[in-house]
Amino acid sequence: MMNESKLRDGLLQAAPFIELTSKRRSVRGFLPDRLDQDVLDSIFKTANHAPSNANTQPWHTYVACGELRDHLSQRLLETVGKGENQLDFPYGYKYEGEYRQRQLDVGILLYKALGITREDKDGKVRAWLRNLEFFDAPHVCFIFMPDWCEIREACDVGMYAQNLMLSIAAHGAVSCPQTILGYNADVVREAFGIEQNLKLLFGISFGLEDKSLPENQIVPERVAPGENTHFYE
Ligand SMILES: Cc1cc2nc3c(=O)[nH]c(=O)nc-3n(C[C@H](O)[C@H](O)[C@H](O)COP(=O)(O)O)c2cc1C
Repeated sequence: MMNESKLRDGLLQAAPFIELTSKRRSVRGFLPDRLDQDVLDSIFKTANHAPSNANTQPWHTYVACGELRDHLSQRLLETVGKGENQLDFPYGYKYEGEYRQRQLDVGILLYKALGITREDKDGKVRAWLRNLEFFDAPHVCFIFMPDWCEIREACDVGMYAQNLMLSIAAHGAVSCPQTILGYNADVVREAFGIEQNLKLLFGISFGLEDKSLPENQIVPERVAPGENTHFYE
């Protein structure tokens, strides 16, 4: 058992990290202001500190802003926006039980903030298409891994992606991870001139938060630690 003062020290030291993890939220509305290149360099350098099996660091990140960002958004709207999908990794979307309930809960929260009712199909489509506009974020990055990678390497990439989003938050910016940005991998590869041997997992829009938007005020719930974390002795 830790003595009381050590415990208090530990909690005090954790405070900035606890604050940072809560600053990392999925933000769905950004200001047009671009981040400076030195800030971008620092964000991505910090993210690279992520752990990986045998230090293989299998992530490959392609970042776009400006004309390329606009081109990517346009191409994704023309393809994914019209149902023309080409995913490197299929997305089953087969949530059941408690997982389905959590999916429904976050959807309801978001639609309520946006003023979209259950019957408002057009509103839901519009909200979905906002993904392909990167929610107006001036920056978007796409996370790839080599084609030989399997589930363990995908875990490495997931750890990197969380590091990246925490790093973005630590630099005063915000992000939204988006599976939907991986719905047409060929379009993204073509825009960046990437070979077929890199496979696309998802994208992350990022930049400065538009704090005036209601969709950015939502706070999705988390299960209590006792429900999914189990201590034994
Ligand atoms: C890999 C991944 C893909 C996601 N894809 C999308 C997406 O395509 N569109 C979207 O609006 N949110 C997406 N999200 C955001 C989740 O909805 C969000 O993380 C979850 O509701 C918890 O909210 P929080 O990130 O604000 O804590 C994704 C999250 C992850 C981790």
